Amino acid sequence: MGTPHNRAEKGDIAKSILLPGDPLRAKYIAENYLENAVLFNDVRGMLGFTGSYKGKRVSVMGTGMGVPSISIYVSELMMFYDVENLIRIGTCGSLREDIRLKDLVLAMGCCTDNGVNRHIFAGDYAPLADFELLSAAYDNIAASGDKPYVGLVKTSDMFYGEQVPGAEYWTQYGVIAVEMESAALYTLAAKFKRRALTICSVSDGIFEKTELSSEERETALDRMIKAALETAAQFA
Ligand code: HPA
Repeated sequence: MGTPHNRAEKGDIAKSILLPGDPLRAKYIAENYLENAVLFNDVRGMLGFTGSYKGKRVSVMGTGMGVPSISIYVSELMMFYDVENLIRIGTCGSLREDIRLKDLVLAMGCCTDNGVNRHIFAGDYAPLADFELLSAAYDNIAASGDKPYVGLVKTSDMFYGEQVPGAEYWTQYGVIAVEMESAALYTLAAKFKRRALTICSVSDGIFEKTELSSEERETALDRMIKAALETAAQFA
């Protein structure tokens, strides 16, 4: 079989998948966290691997950045490869002063400036995380002594954008972080009746003056990757 964007055969991809934006992060996770990882895709460099984590079959694949890119990959994972549990792991910008670099955010729901859903729905659709994945991820993070922030994120179409009037309202109305993919992931998971969750590590923020060192970035990512793998394995 295969699709225009994925050369995997049916059965090559596990029921539970981790979805970093960066395909090289997928490779890093396969090489450092999975056993017996096998490459299933390299079309357009969007690397995907299946291996095992604590004896459970788990896949990991890049999605690229932004709504259009992730929409293509996750639609195909659900339509053609029967993937059931999709866990995005990425970075986000904090919109709140107390949410700092390296903190973990669980995206319970999404607001977005992306227009795709306006063509589908007669009003504003509210993309939500799967409650059971969310709850399991929360417990897994809490078990390692950490406390994730849980709440609304904004799925933005722009990383480098003009400061638009009203930007401050996102924070005022309880949106805790900004990223670029989750609204699409959650909406498509709902369409195909699958489970989806985003776990983000804060990489920047409107109140942040400092940047992460590469070592700090690695340890922050390690906590996120482990929490995502534990959760994926539970649902495998
Ligand atoms: N904006 C959008 N997406 C992001 C950001 C941001 O500031 N940081 C990490 N992902």
